Amino acid sequence: MAKPAAVQHVCTECGTSSARFFGRCPGCGEFGTMVAEAPPPRRGRPAQPEETSRIPTGVPELDRVLGGGLVPASLVLVGGEPGVGKSTLLLSALGAISQDRRALLVTGEESVAQVKLRAARLGGCDAVEILAETELDAVCATLESERPAVCVIDSVQTLWSQEVGSAPGSVSQVREAAARLLRVSKESGVATFLVGHVTKDGSVAGPRVLEHLVDCVLQFEGDRYHAHRILRAVKNRFGSTNELGVFEMTGAGLVGVPDPSEVFGRTHGGEVGAAVTCTLEGTRPLLLEIQSLVAPTDLAMPRRVGTGVDPKRLAMIVAVLSRHAGLPLGAADVFVNVAGGVRIDEPGADLGIALAIASAAKGVPVREGLAAFGEIGLTGRLRPATQTDRRLEECRKFGCGVVLGPETETLRKALAAALSESPN
Ligand code: TYD
Ligand code: MG
Repeated sequence: MAKPAAVQHVCTECGTSSARFFGRCPGCGEFGTMVAEAPPPRRGRPAQPEETSRIPTGVPELDRVLGGGLVPASLVLVGGEPGVGKSTLLLSALGAISQDRRALLVTGEESVAQVKLRAARLGGCDAVEILAETELDAVCATLESERPAVCVIDSVQTLWSQEVGSAPGSVSQVREAAARLLRVSKESGVATFLVGHVTKDGSVAGPRVLEHLVDCVLQFEGDRYHAHRILRAVKNRFGSTNELGVFEMTGAGLVGVPDPSEVFGRTHGGEVGAAVTCTLEGTRPLLLEIQSLVAPTDLAMPRRVGTGVDPKRLAMIVAVLSRHAGLPLGAADVFVNVAGGVRIDEPGADLGIALAIASAAKGVPVREGLAAFGEIGLTGRLRPATQTDRRLEECRKFGCGVVLGPETETLRKALAAALSESPN
């Protein structure tokens, strides 16, 4: 006789599952997030899709992040906070796709009338088919019978299946929905976007488990109160993961920003604590303004707070500045901010970050029209950043007169050359 399936305890924050109940999740350490759920029915994993001819989405920035268009029959998760523009972005894409192919929007969050209102605002979406449905079986049956080339599920958290005994939005429901849609999309050849809400810590809500299932995970970031939005691939089975797309939210939807350096790479001349660096995001060099504030502190452990920079990298740069460039940062809080909500993942921006901090600490502005890039080593020696030529070209294109990095030997020398009040 088959053993009855045991109840699983699943964390609603991170998806960790365990046969035992824990008051504190062993996966993410949150308290009171484990809930009992019946295990989902087991299913085999379908074969991977072939990367045949990609479907252009009509949104060049989205195509870039996907790695050159949408792979047919792939499953793409688009995560982002409410209001960031997920529905807007995907409806524009469906509009463009529907010119040549069948495009279906499954909406569980908004009524057909609401979607049509947005479609009217965006324009060009008349051929998009709209289905207001939250029942998973019905959605899958529609996909199997209609077989659109591209489908958007907005959002995966609204789907529910009777087979799973928990509430919509719970980990098992979302996992079941994603697993079923994965199967249907591969078998029926439907490229599917799943919209997923993210929690305040930035992960796709509950189902971090989804990230293993899907082919691509795109993160849509940015402040809903600011116009610029960043789309990046966190996972991509069909392309690079560090490609970046930049959009501006306007009255008529999201508009791609083809030259983000123009927007993010400008400093106000003479401002203390600001420096421009050139990073490489995927294949794209990008000028970015880095801002820093250095303030005296009474704390035994001074703060090192970075927005858009890796905390370990920031701690390392502060330590090298103290040790090898003679900056007394031991009794100071250091804050660093990257323009436009961009996150820097590569060491080539080290020198720019160090310059902003040094400028703030000394109260001296960085020389005007200067951009800096290069990796800082623990010894205070600078190493050239990867693909120096492409970065140099971008700096020149945007009129940065002096570029520090490729030829500078040490951090100390770089600081002397970059701060307008040079020590010698
Ligand atoms: P939306 O796509 O609904 O966000 P999400 O699906 O991620 O929750 O869009 C959110 C915001 O964008 C909303 O506050 C209104 C604004 N918006 C514009 O500014 N211009 C537009 O053309 C559209 C459609 C939306
Ligand atoms: Mg939405």
